[in-house]
Amino acid sequence: MELAKKLIKVAVNGESRELWIKQNITLLDLLRDYLGLTGAKLACISNSCGACTVIVDDMAVKSCSVLAMQVDGKEVFTVEGLAKDNKLHPLQQAFIEHVAFQCGFCTPGKLMSAKALLDENPNPTEEELRRDMEGNLCRCTGYKKYIEAIMDVAQHPEKYSAKEG
Ligand code: FES
Ligand code: FES
Repeated sequence: MELAKKLIKVAVNGESRELWIKQNITLLDLLRDYLGLTGAKLACISNSCGACTVIVDDMAVKSCSVLAMQVDGKEVFTVEGLAKDNKLHPLQQAFIEHVAFQCGFCTPGKLMSAKALLDENPNPTEEELRRDMEGNLCRCTGYKKYIEAIMDVAQHPEKYSAKEG
């Protein structure tokens, strides 16, 4: 028997949306299949890799492991919302300058985890940063460059704040 659909209201990257959804879809399904926001990726499907990370009410969450119904009435922020007014977000700039852009699977989630961390703690130690980013895995390249990039944004925000995208 098919579950009845449910109406949810959610703000996505600052835009209010009302959507009738199947009750068993994940937040990642909502973003990718209903809203066409494909930045968050489906990789492990088991809350392990961080490729699907987005921000919900200021917290980084793994969207493959959250039901879309759970974000009813909340604010969701995805990698598509980072750049504004033709300006890249400081983290995006720093990832470029530090050659920290890795593959398209892991990078969006890393950016969103880093944003949530710096919004809460603008001056993390490298140890805190590494600990906080533990949920974002790389299967192929490494962890050094993007840690350098995020630390640079934390320690030298003036280098990135005024750059055009
Ligand atoms: S796809 Fe969600 S944690 Fe890996
Ligand atoms: S998983 Fe993206 S570079 Fe390794």
